[in-house]
Amino acid sequence: MARCGVDVTLLLVALYALLPAITDADLQEGFYKSNTNCSVNVEATVASVVQQYISADRGVGAGLIRLHFHDCFVKGCDASVLIDPNPVNPDPEKGSPSNGGLRGLEVIHDAKRRLEGACPGTVSCADILAFAARDASNVLSAGAINYGVPAGRRDGLASAAPDATGSLPPPFARLDRLTELFAAKGLTQDELVTLSGAHSVGRAHCGSFAQRIRPNVSGTMDAEYGAGLQRRCPADAGDGVAVDQDQATPADLDNRYYGNVLAGRVLFDSDWALISDNATRRMVEDNAADQARWAAKFIDAMRKMGALDVLTGDQGEIRRLCNVTNSG
Ligand code: HEM
Repeated sequence: MARCGVDVTLLLVALYALLPAITDADLQEGFYKSNTNCSVNVEATVASVVQQYISADRGVGAGLIRLHFHDCFVKGCDASVLIDPNPVNPDPEKGSPSNGGLRGLEVIHDAKRRLEGACPGTVSCADILAFAARDASNVLSAGAINYGVPAGRRDGLASAAPDATGSLPPPFARLDRLTELFAAKGLTQDELVTLSGAHSVGRAHCGSFAQRIRPNVSGTMDAEYGAGLQRRCPADAGDGVAVDQDQATPADLDNRYYGNVLAGRVLFDSDWALISDNATRRMVEDNAADQARWAAKFIDAMRKMGALDVLTGDQGEIRRLCNVTNSG
């Protein structure tokens, strides 16, 4: 009897270990070509919309990469981040402080409008978001970061602000908390360090790092860099004031972030935290030293993140509009 109990436990452990692989296998590259009668090229349509918006404002590309991260970390990659408040659900994920400053949503809505016109009820908002994050990474890295996106995600039916607040790392998080939040999603410390490289593009609002520059510049920040931030973020700066994350090349997705981390020229405690421990400091140094290796790891980590807790088959739904579930 005891023997049987042990065997069952071992079997369960073995099955559990297989779970991420099963989730991955449910998604498929070229999903819309192989499984639907959609007459338009879905991925090319998304790519052209993304390109169009990035041509007008490269910052939108950074917004799309962050949007995918914020989608996948909260209830999986199910487009729950896109839901607007309404009388039935007045406090969706968007209302969480962790989702402050999100941008690029209009790109997803525009791509959805075009795809819905050509192939109604076929392409999920979650897939559009995953494609768009890939396309944005590709454009902002000048082609260095490009990868196939396994698709077939379905859209979620629920979206609640407390879920976002509990799952997304705040900018003041230290290494143990960051490690814990990433591990909760099956991501390693190396993947945490690798994905944080996305902070080589885009912006941050002054409020998200105010405590590192006032009343004094933090001892973990380069003094001259901190003084520059104090000038750009005056004490009475309104909510709308933002600065570039990488002051040298704010619109290029590259490994420059790691040089910035080592130089103390990064905005958040969570950025600095990556060198607060010997093991992760070595990862930062490795990424700083080898752009191509970091880019390859970034691709792997984005694909892994893009498969988190996905809904497939007949789970969830294909939304008609990305900001509202089909039942309103
Ligand atoms: C490790 C923990 C992380 C923390 C604490 C964090 C926090 C933040 C914060 C506070 C901002 C500024 C938002 C604003 O003020 O507008 C930001 C921006 C950004 N984050 Fe993160 N982030 C983390 C990881 C990631 C990851 C894993 C990715 C993507 C793979 C990512 C991509 C971005 C991008 C691209 C921006 C710029 C967005 C824009 O310009 O609109 N971040 N992050």
